[in-house]
Amino acid sequence: MSPPVATVEALDPHTATRAAEVLAGDGVPPGLVDFHSHLVPGVDDGARDLGEAVRAVETLAAEGVRHVLTTPHLDASVIARPELFDRQQLEVEEAWFSVVDACVDRDPPMSFHLGREILLDTASPQLSDPRVRLNGGPYVLVEFPRLNLPAGSEDVIGHISGLGYRPVIAHVERYLYQGDPVPLWDEWRHSGAALQVNAASYVGRYGAAARELAWRALEMGWVDLAASDYHARGRPWITQAREEITAAGGAAQERLLFDGNPRSLLRGEPLEPVAALDRNQGPWSRMRRFFRGR
Ligand SMILES: [Fe+2]
Repeated sequence: MSPPVATVEALDPHTATRAAEVLAGDGVPPGLVDFHSHLVPGVDDGARDLGEAVRAVETLAAEGVRHVLTTPHLDASVIARPELFDRQQLEVEEAWFSVVDACVDRDPPMSFHLGREILLDTASPQLSDPRVRLNGGPYVLVEFPRLNLPAGSEDVIGHISGLGYRPVIAHVERYLYQGDPVPLWDEWRHSGAALQVNAASYVGRYGAAARELAWRALEMGWVDLAASDYHARGRPWITQAREEITAAGGAAQERLLFDGNPRSLLRGEPLEPVAALDRNQGPWSRMRRFFRGR
């Protein structure tokens, strides 16, 4: 089964009007795409009200974001209960449209899109409803219970890939792993997953362990996408993360993680592989070697 392809033109016209005004070469207007956040007011642990959501949009805009794809939490088990899911989804859409309406005249324009971050609390989640996927395309943002990674997580990922969708595993650096995470990352990748890291992890905002894993995955070339996972309070840390990755010699990786691949995701197109980062080639490392005479 070939996955469905989402295009900007396929979006709800209510949200796509401004996006269509200034199309870049790839059909998406210039500016960063941030595809993981919690900005829908009053539906999860993100923005608490409309004012907070609008301020969060402005905060993201100040960091260069011009396309917000927000992803309120959703338990996979809820999708299997159509009446409950429909009721929740309607609440999410109404609240989100209130944000879109409040921001529709902002300059420069922001395009708004909706997806869900799905907590995989069932072994075979139902994903045929485009409302549970990112912008209705082939990508599905998924997470596991963070403190309790279930055995067989790679089987759930394989199940999603087998349905013809591309699972994007949220913030892989933040799970509490029993031992070395690399074998599990390897299994997830071989089961068809793309791996996402939060921008804030690169600057240590989730602690030393998450920071170490975020950099380690980047050095292995196993991070496919970066996003803010912004919860509408504090900073998204996008700019600082991009600067630190660039300073470590990863300018090309940073462009793909924060710009190229999220843009492809929004359009429902394949991601480009991100090269392994050799931090020894960064300008600071080169300068240190110079002063040490090596
Ligand atoms: Fe999230």
